Amino acid sequence: MSARTSLVAGNWKLNGTRASAVALAKDIAGGVEALGSEVLICPGFAHLGDVQAAIAGASVALGAQNCAAEASGAFTGEVAAPMVAEFGAQYVIVGHSERRALFGESSELVASKALAVQQANMQPIICVGETLEQRESGQLQSVLDEQLNAVIDKLGIAAIAHTVIAYEPVWAIGTGKSASSEQAQEVHSMIRKKLADLDESVAGNVRILYGGSVKPDNAEELFSQTDIDGGLIGGAALNAESFLAICQATD
Ligand code: 13P
Repeated sequence: MSARTSLVAGNWKLNGTRASAVALAKDIAGGVEALGSEVLICPGFAHLGDVQAAIAGASVALGAQNCAAEASGAFTGEVAAPMVAEFGAQYVIVGHSERRALFGESSELVASKALAVQQANMQPIICVGETLEQRESGQLQSVLDEQLNAVIDKLGIAAIAHTVIAYEPVWAIGTGKSASSEQAQEVHSMIRKKLADLDESVAGNVRILYGGSVKPDNAEELFSQTDIDGGLIGGAALNAESFLAICQATD
């Protein structure tokens, strides 16, 4: 048994209005009592302040979906990690596959962002994962190596203990086609083994979340796998009832 506390994180992506974000946050805050896991919500930047107020006093953590690699300067349109931290945020998702694929973020940039998040005293949730094409052509391990080596090189293995890793197979995101619990466990175990080769204690302590079409009806089976420490939830996190049901599935 490990001492890892499960984490269920909602990635709200580019959704909601100020009013709907506050309503969703309040509904989640009202339902999290007595859960054994840590619960995190990541609204859009523009909603961080309102959502922070909506969850005040509740056992819900706040996070952002992205940030700049730089802490300040002439970078028009960017949002820096210290700005996010000012809202009481504790986590920032970095390297989501949508950022990598749609916004051209390299593993090197993702690693710089992870460092910026740690320098602002928050934890990066570092997303990794392969496309269907990469999986089918036998590149799974090499894709994970490239994505993980960049952050290990930049942060150093010891600092990986203060991160969360999220395995999100690209083919399972928003498709309704989750990885099977065996497929997910296999990859989580590959990731933990890779870390264990460098530092066993870091590997034993770091939380590895699964993301990609997690729903109330498949969450329990996924979360019961040895190396799966919770989930990063997209679509199902936009509804308080389904998100809370998924949070419950860690118990
Ligand atoms: P879905 O849960 O909608 O598949 O999205 C997963 C995801 O991208 C979370 O970051």
